[in-house]
Amino acid sequence: MKINFTEIDKDYANIDGAVVVFSLKNDDGYEFRPPAVDLDKATDGALTKAAEATDFKGNFGQMIELIAPSGVAASRILLVGLGEMDKLNPLKAEQIGGKVIVKLMYSGEKNVTVVVGKMAESAALGMRLRAYKFDKYFTTEKNIKKPSVEQVTFQTHGADEAAAKFETMDRVADGVFWARDLVTEPGNVVYPESYAAQIKELTNMGIEVEVLDEDTMEDLGMESLLGVGQGSASESLMVLMHWKGSDNPDEAPVAFVGKGVTFDTGGISLKPGAGMGDMKFDMGGSAAVVGAMKAIAGRKAKANVIGVVGLVENMPSSTAQRPGDVVGSMSGQTIEVLNTDAEGRLVLADCLWYTQDRYKPKFIVDLATLTGAMMVALGQEFAGMFSNSDELCEMLDQAGKDVDEPLWRMPLTDGFDKMINSDIADMKNIGGKYGGSITAAQFLQRFVNETPWAHLDIAGTAWRQKPSDVAEKGATGYGVRLLDRLVQNNFED
Ligand code: BES
Ligand code: ZN
Ligand code: ZN
Repeated sequence: MKINFTEIDKDYANIDGAVVVFSLKNDDGYEFRPPAVDLDKATDGALTKAAEATDFKGNFGQMIELIAPSGVAASRILLVGLGEMDKLNPLKAEQIGGKVIVKLMYSGEKNVTVVVGKMAESAALGMRLRAYKFDKYFTTEKNIKKPSVEQVTFQTHGADEAAAKFETMDRVADGVFWARDLVTEPGNVVYPESYAAQIKELTNMGIEVEVLDEDTMEDLGMESLLGVGQGSASESLMVLMHWKGSDNPDEAPVAFVGKGVTFDTGGISLKPGAGMGDMKFDMGGSAAVVGAMKAIAGRKAKANVIGVVGLVENMPSSTAQRPGDVVGSMSGQTIEVLNTDAEGRLVLADCLWYTQDRYKPKFIVDLATLTGAMMVALGQEFAGMFSNSDELCEMLDQAGKDVDEPLWRMPLTDGFDKMINSDIADMKNIGGKYGGSITAAQFLQRFVNETPWAHLDIAGTAWRQKPSDVAEKGATGYGVRLLDRLVQNNFED
């Protein structure tokens, strides 16, 4: 699907293909925008007639579809309600874009023209995000539903500016799509070595990529991460990405860290069979990080950014780690592994320590599908945010609101911290019966030293059971836009 932008050309009656026009809602009812007024005239009042017949109110997302209207060149007119003018914003425009493309994608129309004065770039982004699908493993015609829409043209004021803005946003969408692809791919396709090989391709965009293999990690004392992967035939890897976009190469970077458990069986503390296949998504945190790195490099962000992902597969086998094992970590602290299914924190522990130790970043944000308990607490609406820095929380909260990837802050306290003290080592990898997401975060905090840090538990937001306005059901790519926006809002220029 190609998207382009042209200036508004008032000859609406001569646009062919599908034409999308808008209506607002005001105190008196609906209020057609000028292009809709024009098309209404040209069709001899067909839009008004349809609006009356369908109780159209101009509500947000409400639609009227006229097929083969007479008096105009268009094969179809789609009239879309925007709601009240003063409630419109770029996020609403994205949603409208998503709603429009869902309506038209398989309509038979090849060319779509959307006539909209402003925020066209946001509507275009919504379309692009919503039109994504993952169909590479279907082999029969029946399964491969090919969209009919090939070209979308936005007629808008300041088309060149809209096109330039969209170009940047489209690079971010590339990052989102890569993250969605990675999360959707099964564990036999995305495993540590194949995943690292894909990440290496970021080199082509100017990102420096370095891979730490098992021997290197062993030398660094990363027993915590290595213990998780020791039952797998795949080699555990840590991948480091470095984007140097700031004018000042010595400026301290911001750092993103992701949990990349390419499949989580639970290990010897094996998960129940039902739904275990979902655990291919347990690398969602790392996908957000690599997707964000792609977005940041793709739009040539003027900032220094580090991405670190720990890639391991958690399998039960005769070489797997046992419940009760005690492991060390790069930080020097020891851990009693009472449950091998609480593996994400073990992976992140060494990633976090390494990141603060080597890069001395301004701050670290880690993302992980860390705990089932997070879904109990916040459902699928919010990711949980745990942090030692109010300032970082404010920046993240704002970025989350800007891109509709919302966060809800959760507590960290000494009381919760005590719950992970162990009888035989510095800590254990599980807390008590309650507050499981918090004790997991307390565990991570023991590995960030004094660095400002936030942990985002995305267990509930990385995957959705139902489509949204900007995403098909399945992998959401949650976190890519959030991290990109965090950098955009605070660390460029
Ligand atoms: N990857 C899971 C967390 C998870 C579970 C995310 C279900 C989404 C849905 C994580 O590794 C895990 O298994 N956590 C355990 C921790 C427990 C053993 C303390 C959990 O949440 O049950
Ligand atoms: Zn687990
Ligand atoms: Zn896991």
